Amino acid sequence: MTSSSNPIEHSFELAAARCDDLTPIVYRRLFREHPEAQAMFRTDGSEPVKGAMLALTIEAILDFVGERSGRFRLIECEVSSHDAYGTSRELFLAFFAVIADSLREILGEQWSAEIDAAWHKALADIEAVVLQQTHLVDKRA
Ligand code: HEM
Repeated sequence: MTSSSNPIEHSFELAAARCDDLTPIVYRRLFREHPEAQAMFRTDGSEPVKGAMLALTIEAILDFVGERSGRFRLIECEVSSHDAYGTSRELFLAFFAVIADSLREILGEQWSAEIDAAWHKALADIEAVVLQQTHLVDKRA
């Protein structure tokens, strides 16, 4: 596997080398830290949705911190569609932090200061995008 120069991309590569599937790890942490999130998913048939949601969120993060080809716009779009699922802005944002914390857990000592700094910046930048989106929606209402 080629090693990425982008610290966030690199953190996903290192995690992929250590674990086959992030999905159970991420959702276990999400539901432990935010139990209210569990009830938002249907009881039956939500496993593929959870996997797809995580995969698309990771694609959006990588685009957001990388070439910004457009896939990062999923973040803005999903803010409003998640209103319908009862997901607050705070909880929506928490998903990104849960992904970062899951990677930190998997990487252990491989979680470098550079990776940590890049994730802190990305989480702050994503928060700004999401809060900006809230503002636009509120203005229209
Ligand atoms: C903890 C925060 C979140 C919760 C509780 C949540 C919850 C949900 C739920 C309940 C669904 C629908 C499942 C179904 O159809 O049965 C869903 C779908 C989806 N979520 Fe999330 N979500 C969260 C964060 C995010 C984030 C941050 C993103 C990406 C930026 C995202 C992207 C998606 C996508 C792409 C789908 C597929 C369908 C759609 O377009 O709405 N979700 N989510």
